[in-house]
Amino acid sequence: MILPITTVCGKFNTMRILSGDIGNFDGKEVELAGWVNVRRDHGGLIFIDLRDRSGVAQIVFNPKKEEKLHEQAEKLRPEWVIRIRGTVGRRPKGMENPKIPSGEYEVSVSNLEILTEAKTPPFNLSSDGTEVGEEVRMKYRYLDLRRARLQRNLRERAKVIKFIRDFLSERKFVEIETPILGKSTPEGARDYLVPSRLNSGKFYALPQSPQQYKQLLMVAGFERYFQIARAFRDEDTRGDRQPEFTQLDLEMSFASQDEILNLTEELFTTLVEKLYPDKKILKKPFPRITYEEVMKEYNSDRPDLREDKKDPDELAFTFIVDFPMFEKKDDGSLGVVHHPFTKPQVESVEEFETAFKKNPLSISAYQYDLVLNGYEIGGGSMRIHNSALLQAVFEALGNSPEKVQENFGHMLEAFEYGVPPHGGIAPGLDRFIMILQNEPNIREVIAFPKTGDGRDLMMDAPSEVDEKQLKELHLKVKKEK
Ligand code: AMO
Repeated sequence: MILPITTVCGKFNTMRILSGDIGNFDGKEVELAGWVNVRRDHGGLIFIDLRDRSGVAQIVFNPKKEEKLHEQAEKLRPEWVIRIRGTVGRRPKGMENPKIPSGEYEVSVSNLEILTEAKTPPFNLSSDGTEVGEEVRMKYRYLDLRRARLQRNLRERAKVIKFIRDFLSERKFVEIETPILGKSTPEGARDYLVPSRLNSGKFYALPQSPQQYKQLLMVAGFERYFQIARAFRDEDTRGDRQPEFTQLDLEMSFASQDEILNLTEELFTTLVEKLYPDKKILKKPFPRITYEEVMKEYNSDRPDLREDKKDPDELAFTFIVDFPMFEKKDDGSLGVVHHPFTKPQVESVEEFETAFKKNPLSISAYQYDLVLNGYEIGGGSMRIHNSALLQAVFEALGNSPEKVQENFGHMLEAFEYGVPPHGGIAPGLDRFIMILQNEPNIREVIAFPKTGDGRDLMMDAPSEVDEKQLKELHLKVKKEK
C-alpha cells in the first residue's frame, strides 16, 4: 500500500547536506535526507541512523523538546525515506561511534518530513548479504544494492573505470563505441542472436567481443583505440562468468607485443598503487612465462602464484605468452586457442602451410593472457595483417573458400586497402574488480547480474513475447514438451 506523504512541518528552506559531512556543521542548523537505516528507542529518546549516499548519521528525537514530532518519529520504520532539519552537536561522552566518519556528532531534530513509507524488506540490509539466498537477492536487487558492501563495490568499480579512461586518454587512445547489433565473431562461445524485422529470416549477433570492429578501426587509421565494452557469450554461467560482461578492449597499430604488454602492466600497476594502496603487487615487472613452461610447471595456464594464498591483499600478476595457435576441441576437431585473427609465429604463408601439414599443434602464436591470483583476467594477441595468411588460417580450420568469403570476406577485403601491423588485449573488468574487492563471484561487482541459469529474476527475463511481435520478426516458436 502506498501511503500519502506526511508533512509535519512543511517544506524546508535550508540546503541539504550529506550525513558524512555533519562534523563540519557543529552547532549549525542543517537539513538531511535519506533512508531510515536503524531505529533505537532509548530512555524516551528515539535514535535513527539516517543513511544517504555518503554513509549514516545519527539523528535524535527528544520528546521533551517537541512532543508532536516525537510521536511522528515513533512511526518511522526501516527504509522509510525522510527529510529532517535539526542542529548538529557533539554526542555525549562515551556515546561516540568511531566506526563511522560522523561518529562524534549527532543531529537533534526539529522538523521531520516523511517522503515515502516502505514495506519491510524481504531480507536484512545491514549485513553483507552472504547469509541471504541468491534467488531472493537477485529478485530484489535494488534492495540488495543498498547494502554497504555492494554500494562500495559499485562505487570502487566506477573509480577503476574512470582511472582506466584517464590513463588511456592521456596516452592518446581514442574511446570509440562499436555496434552491439553486428555479425557473429568467433570467440569460441555461442552467439546471442537478434532476429531482424526488416530482413526476414536474418539475424544480428551480439558481439562476443568487439574484435573485428577494433581491427577495422586500425585499418581506419586510429592507431590507438579503447572501449569499455560490453560482450555477450551464450555459455554456462559460473562464478567468474556472466552471459554479458565488461571488457577493457584495446588495440594498437605499429606496436610490438612487448609494447602492448608493457602498457598493460603500467596501467594495472599504477591503478592498483593509486586506488588500492593497501594491496601488494608480488612481482614487478610481472613475470612472463611461456605456455610450455607454465603447463610443465603448474599444469595450468592460469596458476595462482601468490606466496600466501590466504592473504587477500597480495596480487600475483603474470603474463602467459606464446600460446599454441591450435588445439584439439572436445569433439576431436581442430580449433584455434584464441581466435583466428591471432598471428601464428611463422614468417610466411608457405612456412605456415608446411608447419600445419607437419603438426598443427606445434605452431605457436603471438598470443598472451594476463593472469591474476589464479584467474585469467585478460587475453590478447598480435593479429595477422596479411590477407593471404588470414585466408590460409581460415581454410586450415576446415572452412571452404566460399565459407571464408561469406563469413570474413569483409575483413579480407579491408586488409587489401593498407592495413598496419596491429595487436591488442582485452582485460575482463568484472574479474579484475572482483579480485580487488575481495569478492568470491563477479555477480558481486555487477549491478544487475544474471543468475546461474542466465535469468534476470528482477525483470523476469528472458520472457515470452506476444504473437504480434513474433509475427513481425517472422518467427514461430516451437513449444518444447
Ligand atoms: P577473451 O575471449 O580472452 O579475448 O576475453 C577477454 C577477457 O574477458 C574476460 N571474460 C569474461 N568475463 C566474464 N564473463 C565471461 N563470460 C567472460 N569471458 C571472457 C576474461 C578474458 O580474459 N577479443 C579478445 C581479446 C583480444 O584478442 O584482444 C577476447 O575477447 O577476463
